[in-house]
Amino acid sequence: MNHIKAIAFDLYGTLFDVHSVASKCDVAFPGRGQEISNVWRQKQLEYTWLRSLMNRYIPFEHVTEEALQYATRHLGLALDERAVRPLSDAYLRLQPFPEVPEALRALRGHGLKLAILSNGSPHSIDAVVGNAGLRDSFDHLLSVDPVRVYKPDNRAYELAEHAFGCNRREILFVSSNAWDATGARYFGFPTAWINRGGKVFEEMGQRPDWETNGLDDVAKLFA
Ligand code: LAC
Repeated sequence: MNHIKAIAFDLYGTLFDVHSVASKCDVAFPGRGQEISNVWRQKQLEYTWLRSLMNRYIPFEHVTEEALQYATRHLGLALDERAVRPLSDAYLRLQPFPEVPEALRALRGHGLKLAILSNGSPHSIDAVVGNAGLRDSFDHLLSVDPVRVYKPDNRAYELAEHAFGCNRREILFVSSNAWDATGARYFGFPTAWINRGGKVFEEMGQRPDWETNGLDDVAKLFA
């Protein structure tokens, strides 16, 4: 880890729990919250990839709304048009995973520069991080919005290189999303995969350099 000067983190699912929206879905559709959240998240990701392939970028909040509409229709649930925005706003108030605030403090204590590099829009990233009181933990909040293409496109990962002003070999990329860790690895970032759920990694010709159970274990790599 001696050559690492900076860390870029994925946001959704890595620092913040996307399934904290399940309880809000459960209020609207009792007993179905987790199921909605699962389909919603998967569709949200698929739409980012599809829109990048089709060169049809729209900001992440809108992707999130379209994915929610798909998820409820898919599950045979009637979602009032007027409920789409308020329910999607749950994505602005996600909970950080419990070990995250302390681990970020420890990493900063090691003199590392920290950034979020997310498919989220500048507004969504700012809201999620601000609502959790973690804005001061980061040197940069980087959205893919300026390049109008989603991770795992290389142009998205390049944003971290430009912001930190250092070479990709000196930037550790941290994600819980195996597809994102794969894209980052192909780009050339040393990569840590946080595997909270005992998942298997992608079969796409890459392996993470480090696999950990949480962000606290990433901090320990620098100790
Ligand atoms: C992000 C999503 C993809 O934060 O997890 O970029």
